[in-house]
Formats: sequence, C-alpha cells, structure tokens
Amino acid sequence: MTDTQMLDGLGRRIEYLRMSVTDRCDFRCVYCMAEDMTFLPRQQILTLEEQLRLARLFVSQGVGKIRLTGGEPVVRKGIVGLCEQIAALPGLRELVMTTNGSQLVSMAEPLARAGVKRLNISLDSLDKEKFHAITRTGQLHKVLDGIEAARAAGFERLKLNTVVMKGRNADEVPALVDYALQRGMDITFIEEMPLGDVGRSRSEAFCASDEVRGMIEQRYGLIDSAETSGGPARYARVEGHPESRIGFISPHSNNFCATCNRVRMTVEGRLLLCLGHENSIDLRALVRRYPESDEPVLRAISNALKHKPEKHEFDVNEVQLVRFMNATGG
Ligand code: 5AD
Ligand code: SF4
Repeated sequence: MTDTQMLDGLGRRIEYLRMSVTDRCDFRCVYCMAEDMTFLPRQQILTLEEQLRLARLFVSQGVGKIRLTGGEPVVRKGIVGLCEQIAALPGLRELVMTTNGSQLVSMAEPLARAGVKRLNISLDSLDKEKFHAITRTGQLHKVLDGIEAARAAGFERLKLNTVVMKGRNADEVPALVDYALQRGMDITFIEEMPLGDVGRSRSEAFCASDEVRGMIEQRYGLIDSAETSGGPARYARVEGHPESRIGFISPHSNNFCATCNRVRMTVEGRLLLCLGHENSIDLRALVRRYPESDEPVLRAISNALKHKPEKHEFDVNEVQLVRFMNATGG
C-alpha cells in the first residue's frame, strides 16, 4: 500500500483512473458512434506495455481504482493478460471494466480469474429489434447469455447501464428495472451526453433522469440513498429489494464536480482532466520519449492535475466536443 496522494489544483484527491484500451467496438450504438467509423491506426494507440506502465505510474501515485473502458475493451487483443498484470499492481484496490457484454459468454470467466472485480454491462433494451436498432450490429441474445455467464463467473458485483432515449427505449425502463431486480443486479439510467456528431439531433431523444425516476415510481417505492461513487450518479434503493441499487446519471447537472475523484486516459494516451473539456496532456509522447525514466512522466501528470477544470459545461442542444465517446472511454 502507498500513502502517496494525487491532489488536483482544487485539492480534490484523484484516486480513480478510467483507461480506454481500444477505440474499436463490435457495436455502433446510435448515441456513441456514427454508422461508418474509422478507427485509429495501430501505431497511434498505446501498446499493452505502455498501458501497463501508465497504470503502474498512476497506482504508484495513489490511484486505487482503475476502470478499463473502450470502445469495447474485450475486443482488444491481450486484454486478459493486461487485466492480470494491472490487477496485480501493489496498491490497487480494484480493477473493474465497462463492457457491452457481446463476448462475455466466453470471456466472463477469464476476466474474473484475471482479477476484474466488477463489471458494468451496457443494456439498453430487452426487445431484440429495438436492441438491434440502438446498437446497429448487436444481438440481444448474446448479451443476455453473456450476462448469465458473468453472474456465474463470480464477480463481486454486476451493474447494468442504460442510456434512455425517448422513442427508442424509454418505455422499457420498468422492464429493465424488473430484469435487474430479479437478478440482484444494480442498474443505472443515463441521460445521453453530447459527445461527437453522431448524425442526428440529440435533444429529440433526450429523456431527463427525473422522468425516468417517475416511471419507476409508478411501480416501485424508491428510497434515496446517500451513497456516492464520487461520480455523477445518484442512487436509490427499491423497497423490498435491498440487494439492488438504481442509479441516475444526469451529466447535464454538474453538482458532482466538487467531489470529482477521477481522470480519464484515451487509448492514444491523452490524459483528459474532465469529460466536458478538451484540455489534456499527451502521455503517449512522454512514455515514448522516456522509455526508461518515470520521473518526467510523473512530473507531467502532476502538473496537468493542477489544471483540472472546476466543472464541466454541457449543452444538450449543441455538439461542443469533437471527440466520440468510443475514443474517450465511457
Ligand atoms: N451519452 C451517454 N452515455 C454514453 N455512453 C456512450 N456514449 C454515450 C453518450 N453519448 C455510455 C453508455 C455505454 C457506455 C460504454 O458509455 O452507457 O453503455
Ligand atoms: Fe460500443 Fe459502447 Fe459505443 Fe455502444 S456505447 S458503440 S457498445 S463503445
């Protein structure tokens, strides 16, 4: 264990790193990607060795939690070995992953064995046609089977993530809650964030967390919970179902920024200080320039944190950011 702490310019302790391990994905979700995407050439993305080295450096500075994201992290070749090595870093409390579930039938067990403690699995619909319309390429039955494989593989906790869109899946909110409750899983409903031009107006489909909550309350009693992950989610418990939590993520409110504990790293090694801002530093250039010496890389990270923005500013009517979510890391 290490006593080292990383503080940003506002005194917030940074102890959570979200690392994208690939920009590729076998799905093309309407809120995440354009239908026709070009992905990064290989030399532009961090090698597995570079990913491990950066993970090690962050953990040495007091990061206790790492989440691997994508794109779809499971499509990265060598992902199980990378998980094993990151999970073994001394000082790391937990390695977790966000996945679309498409390959969990075969990968859930190897990932659990490699030391991944918890999974967040995206599930936007329980209707096979709607699921296909949202993901453009996804097959619902594979994901549902993958979720069962994950339940059998012994993760500490499984959480579902649902991006709620009017006219697409908002009517399925109660059914998705039932699905999660029946399996003792958590579920988080997410408002769509304006990241990248995905070729349509986003305000059309926007569904506010308050509305989602209202739909659930027609069927269940919700009890607000003070639990926090230091992130944007607010949680509630369902009366009679103590094992599950329902989360609501409203990225358009920035009330959580004051307690933000996280930074993100893109698959190109750009350290993003805030999801709602473009400022970043190029860690890939630094690890390649200093293959043997960690000191300059650590110094750059520490300097960058001084400039972590106080809060984000999103506007649902405007595409402000040119980055797509898959290049950013969920
Ligand atoms: N808005 C909100 N959530 C998004 N995700 C991806 N793109 C967006 C977006 N534009 C989230 C989804 C998905 C996870 C990988 O990232 O929850 O499940
Ligand atoms: Fe893939 Fe996740 Fe983006 Fe969907 S949201 S296209 S599953 S990375």
